[in-house]
Amino acid sequence: MKKLGMVSVAALLASGAVAWADELSLVCSAEQDWCDLMVAAFEAENPDTDVLMVRKSTGETLAQVRAEAGNPKIDVWWGGTGDPHLIAAEEGLSQASGVDTSELLGWAQNMAEISRGKTVGIYAGALGIGYNADILAEKGIEPPQCWADLEDSRFEGEIQVANPNSSGTAYTELATFVQLFGEDEAMTKLAAVGKNVNSYTKSGSAPSKAAARGETGVSIGFMHDMVKLASQGFPLKIVAPCEGTGYEVGAVSIIDGARNLVGAKKWVEFALSAEVQSRAPEVGSFQVPSNSNAQVAPESPDLASIKLIDYDFATYGSSETRERLLARWDSEVGDPNPQQ
Ligand code: G6P
Repeated sequence: MKKLGMVSVAALLASGAVAWADELSLVCSAEQDWCDLMVAAFEAENPDTDVLMVRKSTGETLAQVRAEAGNPKIDVWWGGTGDPHLIAAEEGLSQASGVDTSELLGWAQNMAEISRGKTVGIYAGALGIGYNADILAEKGIEPPQCWADLEDSRFEGEIQVANPNSSGTAYTELATFVQLFGEDEAMTKLAAVGKNVNSYTKSGSAPSKAAARGETGVSIGFMHDMVKLASQGFPLKIVAPCEGTGYEVGAVSIIDGARNLVGAKKWVEFALSAEVQSRAPEVGSFQVPSNSNAQVAPESPDLASIKLIDYDFATYGSSETRERLLARWDSEVGDPNPQQ
């Protein structure tokens, strides 16, 4: 049987009926529809490459990359918040891509500088609060304007947010609170907000989707994810918190020991190009693109008009800081019902 199988594959190859395709193993930590669009566009440009893609949250991907160190299954990691990408770089789990970053905006080049070229910025987006206007109006709850409002008992059982262990979005929130209020005060505030949280999700965009559908009153997440839902007609309102807010620089990294290094480099160049970045709004991805020549969708939240903190990526994208903050979050805030 075995011999027969080999003979027939050889015969097929000789007849030109099948060709060997290169496989590129990709983990995508952006929204599923954007991941799908990117894969289809890359395969159209590179017909000899099959992209094997899995969507995973940023913290979960870092955990996988760590677990597979020395025998990586992933070639390239595209999307997701930059801090875990920086941590992978610091831990020697990713490698310099050597791509030209000269067309990129300063905040994207900054990621490459911090990581010595091992990760680079692909998009930026600010963190905010979302609320379902119908639900809050029905319940007579005054909408939030500030992070501090989320501690108020009027939001009891109404808030949904992701778990910072699995989600880069929620880690951005944790790091934002620390940078706004100091570490001890941040933990106190997050624990107070936590009293009003109905569930901690794995993925960062899930809470805003739940708020859009009216399954929860309030979400914490990236504003561009909320814009996508609002533009689909959901009654989701977006708040830039009065104290100021943090932001992400989404990133791309080639994993150390990648089996398809040539394909991984091609992917990074492709993902940094203005043309490819300009396509994100086709699937409602309204982050600000990192290529200075890419088109910014009119729907993209205007970062210049939002009170943004000077997010310290070198510090909050370091292994030591993340481990310490997550350990404190687990013991002082904590998820009573962690999802598997
Ligand atoms: C969404 C956002 C991205 C962000 C990602 C992080 O997909 O659109 O901008 O990088 O969430 O995902 P995570 O599940 O790790 O919070």
